[in-house]
Amino acid sequence: MGKQLFFLLCLFLLCFFSSHPASARRYNALFNFGDSLSDTGNVVLAGLPYGMTYFGHHTGRCSDGRLVIDFIAEGIGLPHLPPSTANNTSFLRGANFAFIAAPALPFDFFHQRGLSHGLHVNASLHEQIDRFQKLLPSICGSPQDCKDFLRKSLLVVGEFGGNDYNTGLFGGWSVTKVTSFVPHVTRVVADGIERLIGLGAVDLIVPSVLPVGCFPLYLTLSESSDSAEYGPRTGCLRRFNALAWYHNAALRRELGQLRSKYPAVSIRYADFYAQLFDFVVDPLKYGFKAGALRTCCGAPGMGKYNFNLEAKCDQNGSTVCSDISTHVSWDGIHMTETAHRIIARGWLSGPYVNPPILSTPAS
Ligand SMILES: *[C@@H]1O[C@H](CO)[C@@H](O)[C@H](O)[C@H]1NC(C)=O
Ligand SMILES: *[C@@H]1O[C@H](CO)[C@@H](O)[C@H](O)[C@H]1NC(C)=O
Ligand SMILES: *[C@@H]1O[C@H](CO)[C@@H](O)[C@H](O)[C@H]1NC(C)=O
Ligand SMILES: *[C@@H]1O[C@H](CO)[C@@H](O)[C@H](O)[C@H]1NC(C)=O
Repeated sequence: MGKQLFFLLCLFLLCFFSSHPASARRYNALFNFGDSLSDTGNVVLAGLPYGMTYFGHHTGRCSDGRLVIDFIAEGIGLPHLPPSTANNTSFLRGANFAFIAAPALPFDFFHQRGLSHGLHVNASLHEQIDRFQKLLPSICGSPQDCKDFLRKSLLVVGEFGGNDYNTGLFGGWSVTKVTSFVPHVTRVVADGIERLIGLGAVDLIVPSVLPVGCFPLYLTLSESSDSAEYGPRTGCLRRFNALAWYHNAALRRELGQLRSKYPAVSIRYADFYAQLFDFVVDPLKYGFKAGALRTCCGAPGMGKYNFNLEAKCDQNGSTVCSDISTHVSWDGIHMTETAHRIIARGWLSGPYVNPPILSTPAS
């Protein structure tokens, strides 16, 4: 009797574990909205060495390899996301609406402020959601069927904001003046999330913006002899990080309000900022022997940060470092595959998404 029970238990466990991956898949699809941090091919600008580590060719991704969204897709058992503009592709397991250089805010916001010449694409958050809405019937049919479908989908909304602030900063506005964009940006992100909820989304991840004051691009262009400009522990430019911090605080407030309004919807903040900050404060903990402030692919040996606007990665005699995985920064603005893998782990298993993505019970 005992033996039989033991046998049955083993059989049960065997069945359970062998069928586990399929039956317990948490999500049927993954949809992403964003900018160059997550574009997987809607805009293809550069060539190799972009893509060299993983794909062997340039895919449009702004990195040497996979992005955070690729590792999220892998982590939840879904394929890498096809770009929404892909031809002849099935979007049944998801699609990616992110565009390199996409701002959150629409063209008119910048136009009214004399800054629209700094915009490179018309792919604001609402335009990305327009594309999503247009694509939905081909994926899931009627609005009601799509609600059923999206009940089992994960949506990642962002990071958004980086390009809104860049458009002001590169248009010659001061950080203080650009800070006035923050409530507009976080409001439009909240509006976008409400639209997605209206379409049926019930599980959303909303990443923060990054501490761009730690990026070689800003560190080089705004280099200063005044040590008070720099964080003592990080060597990052404080005023840029303060802008990012202020955005993230406003974003968290918006998300808090949305959670009260939609208690049945899961809206999780992904703390991109805190993870990047930790890379900078304690790079060796992650194997980043080159530190976090030096570009891998860039001007050979230029300055402290190995960054030169006239020899950006893949241009004008730029070179790739010999050990990419010891660097956080790939090209001075975007990160290496290694950094992306670590960030994704913090979202999948914690602590930078709470509760972590993989803790979500299977439905
Ligand atoms: C899809 O086809 C169109 C027209 O041929 C082309 O312009 C576009 O670049 C293609 N999309 C992708 C992602 O390759
Ligand atoms: C689209 O895919 C089908 C089936 O795989 C193929 O026969 C067709 O040639 C493809 N069309 C284009 C434009 O790539
Ligand atoms: C974006 O749209 C505006 C207004 O509709 C237009 O003037 C502008 O040229 C477009 N920009 C790009 C990059 O397509
Ligand atoms: C390449 O370098 C030259 C000389 O420094 C510079 O004038 C030019 O703008 C650079 N080109 C690019 C694409 O950065």
